[in-house]
Amino acid sequence: MSQLQGEIISVGAPSSNLGDYVETYDNFSWEDVEKQFSWYETGKVNLAYEAIDRHVDAGKGDQIALRFNDPTRDETYTFGDLQAKSNQFANVLRSRGISKGDRVFVFMPRSPELYVSILAIIKVGAVVGPLFEAFMETAVKDRLEDSGAVALVTTTALLPRVKRKELPLLQHLFLVGKDIVPEKGVVDYYKEMELASPEAEIEWVNREDGLILHYTSGSTGKPKGVYHVHNAMLQHYYTGKVVLDLKEGDVYWCTADPGWVTGTSYGIFAPWLHGVTNVVRGGRFSPGDWYETIQKNKVSVWYSAPTAFRMFMGAGEDIVKQYDLSTLRHILSVGEPLNPEVVRWGYKVYGHRIHDTWWMTETGGQLICNYPSMPIKPGSMGKPVPGIHAAIIDDNGKVLPPHRMGNLAIRTPWPSMMRLIWNNAPKYEEYFRIPGWYISGDTAYMDEDGYFWFQGRIDDVINSSGERVGPFEVESKLVEHPAVAEAGVIGKPDPTRGEIIKAFISLREGFAPSEELKAEISRFVKEGLSAHAAPREIEFKDRLPKTRSGKIMRRVLKAWELNLPAGDLSTIED
Ligand code: WT7
Repeated sequence: MSQLQGEIISVGAPSSNLGDYVETYDNFSWEDVEKQFSWYETGKVNLAYEAIDRHVDAGKGDQIALRFNDPTRDETYTFGDLQAKSNQFANVLRSRGISKGDRVFVFMPRSPELYVSILAIIKVGAVVGPLFEAFMETAVKDRLEDSGAVALVTTTALLPRVKRKELPLLQHLFLVGKDIVPEKGVVDYYKEMELASPEAEIEWVNREDGLILHYTSGSTGKPKGVYHVHNAMLQHYYTGKVVLDLKEGDVYWCTADPGWVTGTSYGIFAPWLHGVTNVVRGGRFSPGDWYETIQKNKVSVWYSAPTAFRMFMGAGEDIVKQYDLSTLRHILSVGEPLNPEVVRWGYKVYGHRIHDTWWMTETGGQLICNYPSMPIKPGSMGKPVPGIHAAIIDDNGKVLPPHRMGNLAIRTPWPSMMRLIWNNAPKYEEYFRIPGWYISGDTAYMDEDGYFWFQGRIDDVINSSGERVGPFEVESKLVEHPAVAEAGVIGKPDPTRGEIIKAFISLREGFAPSEELKAEISRFVKEGLSAHAAPREIEFKDRLPKTRSGKIMRRVLKAWELNLPAGDLSTIED
């Protein structure tokens, strides 16, 4: 780890809110953030109003809220358009009796209809449950069943994956598609939208009323329903300002799907709370199409994930030169460790530092981040955002000094902290088992400057011959090797060493697997990092198992290795 430290990329960003950060950090209070909203006075709130209608009321109805592109559609919606459309769908929902507190799920690919549906569900005070479009039958059923969802918005294409007969509580299906056959409980989305009024009352709720239910996988058991409330918007708004650096006139692109928390907190809420143009791109990853999206929409702030940046790195520098990316001002990353090599590459090729941010589905918003113009130490997640107190603690709750690895923990509460695990109080309490702290399940250490360094999930840390080895550190080194596209590292039980380090590796274009290459890669780590961190075993794979948010699923690698069942795979890519 000493190797990753010491190196600082401290170039002033061309534009940032560092001034605000410095001013507010010492006497920061969430109350000051609240005062930016009118509901500070009334106590009655609705996030959809703050994200959309408020801007129309402020005379910005003609400004562009949504730029949608996919291989078949290219559409633009103003704040006024989204207000009218979400009102229309709110009226359709109400006509079927949907009201405050109901769980209403959305299950469809990214489309303007998806964003309109989410806003409308929130507008009527219902709790939105986003499902990723690639979920298959069981994943869909588990989530609808556990949440007791009464309605689902989906497409005709995805409908076969919804086992309606097994879901007695699911009474309404809002279907987006053509030639919809009338049937009890089935509503033709486009047809009813045409008839619905563009005026609707907003359901004013309390700040602690339900907003969204995101299901996320743990290492055991079925996925957990992480429940967030309207109050979370304080975190979305504030981090949108000091971390995403959003300003009037920005064009912002978050590449995540709303099926994952990044795609809602930062793909919907933060940008629209700031009234900026939000770019949404459907379809699959392709370096050319993604760069084209930046060029065409003149994106200024770009939030993506390490897996995407690594793929860009794999695609090389030449393709970057074919596009005009000069509108970019600020680049961020989330979801898994951002390898130092990727930060260096990004700085060289994009001319911008990629800012890592750390948070989780459960935290609802960003907590530990690299601010726009703070010095970046490549490989570090950054520092806690104002209002957040993070620490490394041991299993008894004792705060550890710098450089000691332990549980990454956050002082409770903060505005976007989850308020429930749906139907599962014991699981919820596990996170808060040490009084006053939220235990993230990640291990990390803090350095003498207050930067946090991710080490792994609690169950991923490898102990080889008494040496603690963070898999991330080894993976980061591995991807620096010219032949390595991606790497996942696990501890493999070993009778003499406790565990040995085993690496699963996918190779870059133009490299063929061989025993020589294995030896060379292992030597590369040994020489570049340390002998005890070098993989004793390497296995080449065409692709590595990853979650949709791009995290290499080490537990799947481990299960392969040990011939054990891989557990819940509902979040796996493909
Ligand atoms: C876990 C949460 C919330 C965004 C999407 C992922 C890992 C997240 C980082 C980072 C290292 C990271 C952690 C965390 N993670 N960001 N910047 N560096 N690890 O949300 O699916 O709830 O996963 O992702 O292990 O606990 P999620």
